Amino acid sequence: MVQDAPVEVAHVGEVEPGTTKKFILQVDGREVECFVVNYGGGLFAYVNRCRHVPMTMDWIENQFLTEDGRYILCATHGAAYEPESGECIFGPPCGKVLDRVPLTIAGDRVLAHRPLEDET
Ligand code: FES
Repeated sequence: MVQDAPVEVAHVGEVEPGTTKKFILQVDGREVECFVVNYGGGLFAYVNRCRHVPMTMDWIENQFLTEDGRYILCATHGAAYEPESGECIFGPPCGKVLDRVPLTIAGDRVLAHRPLEDET
């Protein structure tokens, strides 16, 4: 399978702690919606697809975090995911993990790579 080219999703410092930003990746000719979250100063990115029902998690555009910023929340049935690992710790898909989007930094650019699909 051919690796799709990495995509610039933000510049360094753009996504501030406690905030998120959505972006689109092309994967095998399909558009896949993803998001990056700054949790505790670290950047993590995932496909915007709940592991319960395969649907987007932000009912309100680009609102992924609980009010206290502690968890990524699926608005549909309230599943809560750890921002650092993507693991669901509460809700119907408990124990499953969001599909991670690897990130790298090149100069002042944050680049997203092809998502890793979880097998759980
Ligand atoms: S679709 Fe996300 S918890 Fe049900």
